[in-house]
Amino acid sequence: MKLDVLLGLQWGDEGKGKIVDVLAPNYDVIARFQGGPNAGHTLEFNDIKHVLHTIPSGVFRPETINIIGNGVVIDPVIFMKEIEELSKLNVDLTKNLFISKRAHLILPSHRILDAASEAAKGKTKIGSTLKGIGPTYMDKTGRNGLRIGDIINQGFKEKYNALTNKHKDLLKQYDFDYNLSEYEETWFKGIELIKKFRLIESEHEINKYLNEEKLILAEGAQGTLLDIDFGSYPFVTSSNTICAGACTGLGIAPNKIGNVIGIFKAYCTRVGSGPFPTELENTEGETLRKQGHEFGATTGRPRRCGWLDLPALKYAVMLNGVTELIVTKADVLTGFETIKVCTHYILNGKEINYLPYEINEPIEPIFKEFKGWKIDISKIDKFENLPNEFKEYLIYIEKEVNVPIKVVSVGPNREQTILR
Ligand code: GDP
Ligand code: IMO
Ligand code: MG
Repeated sequence: MKLDVLLGLQWGDEGKGKIVDVLAPNYDVIARFQGGPNAGHTLEFNDIKHVLHTIPSGVFRPETINIIGNGVVIDPVIFMKEIEELSKLNVDLTKNLFISKRAHLILPSHRILDAASEAAKGKTKIGSTLKGIGPTYMDKTGRNGLRIGDIINQGFKEKYNALTNKHKDLLKQYDFDYNLSEYEETWFKGIELIKKFRLIESEHEINKYLNEEKLILAEGAQGTLLDIDFGSYPFVTSSNTICAGACTGLGIAPNKIGNVIGIFKAYCTRVGSGPFPTELENTEGETLRKQGHEFGATTGRPRRCGWLDLPALKYAVMLNGVTELIVTKADVLTGFETIKVCTHYILNGKEINYLPYEINEPIEPIFKEFKGWKIDISKIDKFENLPNEFKEYLIYIEKEVNVPIKVVSVGPNREQTILR
């Protein structure tokens, strides 16, 4: 059996949480493979609106096993809050949430380092979510990190102190006030809570499931354009958000990947700093933000909005080997007279049709225009019933990208999903 991967094709917040929740009944296992609490995955059903940060989006399906893979970084404080919020909704995860022993821990001092580093960058800051993601992955690759497996071994406290002291030395180079003690206390409570879950070797577990013909969906966080290697560096996150990240973040071989499900919004958003060729810094952008409720699920920051960027989408499809597409937030485009799609860029006076290395340089988008539609599509449940203008828009994208669009999401709720 092969494992399917679901991931974002833009700058994150494509609606991964909603779609994983919709698809979860088709799978036995949902496994997060990278990122950490910088993610905010929103699920809506009945009258519940719930945001997950570290925990996979299969948790509202009682039969589903959820795995936090080795590629994820975990803040015990945020994890504990997530568990508390879920228990208010009577979701008990002690039996069906497993955590990889190889996943790295975000220490309280990693958060402080993130904040100090961003403050020191001033205008050139990344716009990090300040969850300690960058410093934690730095310690992972620098071979200093603490892992979930360490918490059940003797000497954990000493290892914790040694790494924290290293961070305190690093913090001396910044003019940055901080207080660790309060967060530290809650952090260790979170560690005790984590011990109540099954701590696993996810690579063995997941490959065993595949041999048993179990169906697994790997859930990505962030989006392809935030990938550490292929995003608009340095304005990226610190993990591989692309499909290859599912191999390293779960311990599965490339030939075990089945379908690659790529999600994109019918337009684009970005939160944080960095290039955004199709950004609309005008009333159209404001309309998208307002109609799409484009405010960060993790930080509440307003998201920057712009038209769909085809060269960027094609780049993402290429890097991930996307086999099927899902478009979300189509309903947000309702009411626009004209909808635009970027087909090319002008860079240094030359027309190019691909996302270049020079993405951080001034780049001018060239648009193709489509006629908009006025009817509310948020209650439509069949593809045939969608307005012709919208179908033309979708069919154009599909043809350009050369991958079928299999699902159209027309609202935040589970029910507002059209399978094609
Ligand atoms: P994720 O990080 O990819 O899981 O996405 P987020 O949860 O951060 O952001 C997506 C936002 O859009 C959430 O508030 C969702 O509830 C909402 N959403 C998802 N799909 C749709 C859709 O098709 N239409 C509308 N209007 N909202 C959607
Ligand atoms: P989900 O999974 C949108 C952005 C931050 C910042 C950059 C680096 O909900 O789609 P970091 O905290 O990782 O050091 O921030 O990446 N970013 C996200 N943007 N959605 C996310 O996750 C994001 N996770 C990080 O805004 O620009
Ligand atoms: Mg999000």
